[in-house]
This record gives sequence, structure tokens and C-alpha cells, in this order.
Amino acid sequence: MAEARAVDVAVDVAVLVGSLRKESLTRKVAMAMKGLAPPSLALEIVEIRELPMYDQDLETETPPRAWVDFRDRIKRADALLFATPEYNRSVPGCLKNAVDVGSRPPGNTVFNGKPGAIVSVTPFGLGAFGANHHLRQALVYVNVLTMAQPEAYISQARDLVDENFRITKDASREFFTKFLNAFAAWIELTRKK
Ligand SMILES: Cc1cc2nc3c(=O)[nH]c(=O)nc-3n(C[C@H](O)[C@H](O)[C@H](O)COP(=O)(O)O)c2cc1C
Repeated sequence: MAEARAVDVAVDVAVLVGSLRKESLTRKVAMAMKGLAPPSLALEIVEIRELPMYDQDLETETPPRAWVDFRDRIKRADALLFATPEYNRSVPGCLKNAVDVGSRPPGNTVFNGKPGAIVSVTPFGLGAFGANHHLRQALVYVNVLTMAQPEAYISQARDLVDENFRITKDASREFFTKFLNAFAAWIELTRKK
């Protein structure tokens, strides 16, 4: 008789990308990270484009379909990866809106207790530090257990990812690999608690 064997199921990581444009550098970085993730992590971009702006008046018995679907998808996720550009030293509105939509109704945040990580991306310098930390602040309130180290501030991202979504620089590829392995370990640690 065949022996029953435990099947290893990859951790479901919902990836939220804070840019809506087609040629987004941040989305390219997220796609490249998908390719570099260890087999224990399955990264999937969850689209936020169709989420209506958060409006408490819409929080009725029948909230917008897109909100319901988004909340269900995040509830199913084991972990969250936030990939954000920086707009005016802060988080782009579309990503903040996704956090707001997921955080409601009160007492029902779909993010509660999930392990998370942030990568911030810019074609310029300073690594979108402002966006990274403003996002971190909001995630504290919705109780995402955001990994502290390593931090990921990605500067000069213009030619960082090629057309096949591969990281072009060896040092950066190494960095992302380390970051994702640390994230996998962080997820394991937080899920044991
Ligand atoms: C409204 C707006 C504000 C911006 N503010 C910043 C900023 O504060 N810091 C920064 O590094 N880049 C800033 N940028 C430039 C973005 O980093 C750049 O457009 C980047 O490519 C956006 O990310 P994406 O390629 O993923 O869409 C800003 C861009 C826009 C459209």
C-alpha cells in the first residue's frame, strides 16, 4: 500500500503593486521577484485597479463587488508583499486605497495578523524611503506583521528588470534572493505563533 505523504503546499503570497501604469517599474520588480522566490512561496499579483475609492457610504449590506472580491482574495492569502513606488514622498493613492478597503468594516480587517513585507521602488535616488515608511505606518494599524529586516529600498530602477522580468544586475539579484528567503523565514516564524 502506498504510504501517505505530507504534500508541501507553497505559501500563498498576495502581491499588491502601487502603480497602475503599463510600464510600471514597480510591477516589473514584483514580476522579477516572483521568478526569484523560493519554491515555498507562490507570489501572485492581486489587481487593485478596479477598487472604487473607499467611501463609508458604500459600506452597506451590499458593498461594491470589487471590494468584496478583493477582501476575499486577501483573506485567503497567507502573506502579503507590498511593492510601492513613491508619490510625493508617500504611498500612491491606489495602494493606500487598497489598504483602506481591506481594513473595513471595523473589526474585520482582512490583513489582521498576516505576515508582510515592503519593497519600495524608484527610478531616482533615496529608494522611495518615504513611501516605504508611510506604508509601514498604515500596516501597523491594520496589524500586518511587517518584516523589519532586511529593508528593500530600490533606487535607480529604470533598467533593473529586462523584458523577460529578470533582474539585470548580479548584486541586485542576490539582494532580492536574500530578501525573499528572509521573507519566507519570517512567514514561517510568524505563522508558528
Ligand atoms: C505624482 C507623482 C509623484 C512622484 N513623486 C515622487 C517622489 O516623491 N519620489 C520619487 O522617488 N519619485 C517620485 N515620482 C516619480 C516616480 O518614482 C516614477 O514616476 C516611477 O516610475 C513611478 O513608479 P512606476 O514606474 O512603478 O509607475 C513621482 C511620480 C508621480 C507621477
